[in-house]
Amino acid sequence: MKVLITGGKGMLGSKLATFLQSKGYEVSNPGSNELDITNTEQVRQYLLSNSPDFIINCAAYTNVEQAESEEEKPKVFEINTKAPGKLAKLTDEANIGFMHISTDYVFSANDPRGYAEFDVPTQPAYNYYGETKRLGEFEVMKNNPNSYIVRVQWTFGEGGKNLVDTMLKLAETRTELNVVEDEVGVPTYTYYVAQSIAYILDNSQSIQPGFYHAVSEGQCSRYEQVQYIYEIAKLDVKLNPIRLADYPRKAKVPNFSILKNTRLPKLPDWREGIREYILSKQHL
Ligand SMILES: NC(=O)c1ccc[n+]([C@@H]2O[C@H](COP(=O)([O-])OP(=O)(O)OC[C@H]3O[C@@H](n4cnc5c(N)ncnc54)[C@H](OP(=O)(O)O)[C@@H]3O)[C@@H](O)[C@H]2O)c1
Repeated sequence: MKVLITGGKGMLGSKLATFLQSKGYEVSNPGSNELDITNTEQVRQYLLSNSPDFIINCAAYTNVEQAESEEEKPKVFEINTKAPGKLAKLTDEANIGFMHISTDYVFSANDPRGYAEFDVPTQPAYNYYGETKRLGEFEVMKNNPNSYIVRVQWTFGEGGKNLVDTMLKLAETRTELNVVEDEVGVPTYTYYVAQSIAYILDNSQSIQPGFYHAVSEGQCSRYEQVQYIYEIAKLDVKLNPIRLADYPRKAKVPNFSILKNTRLPKLPDWREGIREYILSKQHL
């Protein structure tokens, strides 16, 4: 199967490309400079010359804080809402499989029980990034009801900005840090997300289109996550718990944003992902 990964040089796109290649898929993973998903004509030409069987859209405007800026908003909407809708339409017309990657931030109920795949995010999201991703999901399903929408959350892995790397870097210069204790989610290694996506591709003949949550098992606060990162990396940094409300940021985020995976094979616990990622870095 020929798979095209848009946003293919990002953190998830690049990990997914390597993983699918290792499983024998023929993969192309252009970066935004080679294939801009907002440029419909360019996408059309790319499809004509590369004729993929399946497209996985990993492209997104992912800077949640910057997305709040009024000047950036039209661009955020174009990339996260309109372009996925257009990709869905093109794939529907050309009879190409389509998967779109989305986020826990589409939900805004602040529900400590978390969200399963059949929960529908009907209310506006907490922040503009989340809202454009929520509307993007609707655009995708409207234009191609046979799409797969895979939501991920708190991802970390090689080749991208993520909390694990940020914390390891900070430990080089800091002996004490404030960390939010009342923001809860599910940290997930991109390697595991790639496994879930490959499972869907491998079984696309029998797996229903619709919503899936590619997340690890368990849940934790940011404080617990950082505590575990330093435990595994054997770094001694004093952590002071602070409240989300006291952490200054432009984009509002919920205290509870927990995706539950009830449809795909279970992924390892979030701690296992952090351990595996940090150990793999130490062996480099
Ligand atoms: N990271 C997380 O914690 C997290 C959480 C929930 C959901 N997600 C979702 O996971 C998916 C993958 O994100 P990621 O974590 O891999 O973030 P990332 O590293 O920022 O990757 C996103 C990629 O999209 C590309 N892109 C932006 N605009 C584009 C355009 N117009 N055309 C083509 N490519 C474009 C970016 O390329 P340039 O840098 O060249 O612009 C970047 O490589 C996204 O859908 C994101 O919303 C991520």
